[in-house]
Amino acid sequence: MRPGPAGAAALANGSRSQIKVLRPEILAPVERASAPEGPLPLDEILIGDCLEELARLPASSVDLVFADPPYNLQLESTLSRPDQSVVDAVDDEWDKFASFADYDAFTKAWLAAVRRVMKPQATIFVIGSYHNIFRVGAALQDQGYWILNDIVWRKTNPMPNFRGRRFTNAHETLIWAAKDSGAKNYRFNYELLKAGNEDCQLRSDWLFPICTGHERLKDESGRKTHPTQKPEALLARILLAASHAGDVVLDPFFGSGTTGAVAKRLGRHFVGVEREEAYAAAARRRIAAVESLPPEAVAPAPSKRSEPRVPFSAVVEAGLIEPGAVLVDEKGRHRAVVRADGALGLGAITGSIHKIGALAQGLPACNGWTFWHFRRGDRLEPIDALRSMMRERLRAAEGSD
Ligand SMILES: C[S@@+](CC[C@H](N)C(=O)[O-])C[C@H]1O[C@@H](n2cnc3c(N)ncnc32)[C@H](O)[C@@H]1O
Repeated sequence: MRPGPAGAAALANGSRSQIKVLRPEILAPVERASAPEGPLPLDEILIGDCLEELARLPASSVDLVFADPPYNLQLESTLSRPDQSVVDAVDDEWDKFASFADYDAFTKAWLAAVRRVMKPQATIFVIGSYHNIFRVGAALQDQGYWILNDIVWRKTNPMPNFRGRRFTNAHETLIWAAKDSGAKNYRFNYELLKAGNEDCQLRSDWLFPICTGHERLKDESGRKTHPTQKPEALLARILLAASHAGDVVLDPFFGSGTTGAVAKRLGRHFVGVEREEAYAAAARRRIAAVESLPPEAVAPAPSKRSEPRVPFSAVVEAGLIEPGAVLVDEKGRHRAVVRADGALGLGAITGSIHKIGALAQGLPACNGWTFWHFRRGDRLEPIDALRSMMRERLRAAEGSD
């Protein structure tokens, strides 16, 4: 059984044989925050305690944070498989806290330190399991962060529950939060994610295997370099969703450097903090071997909202469609005529592409750009294709100025 708060308090009082580490550093976050600030050390791993190192970074300087903090797993005894082989579980000192209160104090301190260095529109992803994620979620909200989603990372290959006393623990949870409730223009590459997902909105349940095979860092004797190395595909999803090429991604618990490796491949910068030199050394070697993708493979797409507004009349004026042309819907049930002024005619009624589209269907509203189609050869294409051509022309004209 894991200790409840009472049991944890007993542990803190030293009344159980297994004494855990109480960290004095988490009790003095205020003094740490007054350390002098330096420039942002791009693409570097800072060795040390994250509270101290974060206090040295400039305020409002990073675009995205990925945090994979200690989970406080509280493993009390050796875990064995049915064949009596020992499970390589996370029993490292950095994951041990004397009590829930101690863990909460640490969580509050690093969340505050991270929030200070986030740009106003930056967001944070924190990953955790049932051991810690609820405590992290409460701390996030208490500090003014604004939760945007919780994401379930469902593991295709979870470790079985060897004792058969619980469900197989087959997922971890990510909390995605903005710096505060007023943050509106945070990065979310909605259109690109949707385009990559067969034009369906991406959901909050993600399916990835845990990190195994050639991706898993091992030492010469075949032992895992880091006990909790996260899969690169998970980090790639996060960075592609919530950052742009050239952005700075902060990881205050860098471990084996998964965030740095993925950031480099996707043309982002990283700043990592890790207190164990051995992990940082492995991360440096790993990142050095990564090749960045060509810029055109990772360039941000302009979001539809940020693109210049193009009225249908401009498409007609530019000669991309002739006055008198007939537009139809995708199934050919409705017909409208393009007028020289950029309005549409439906019998005796005239109006915008949107209004006439809505009227034809008997609906209150309609997106005329996707509803109306024109004939190109033997195919029907939405007039949105003409708007895209128009925007291309505008961009080309801007570029030649
Ligand atoms: C859960 S692991 C992160 C694993 C990482 N995401 C990866 O893919 O390899 C947490 C890491 O944080 C480090 N750590 C724990 N407490 C820390 C602290 N106070 N400051 C800096 N690093 C810390 C540990 O050494 C460990 O490598």
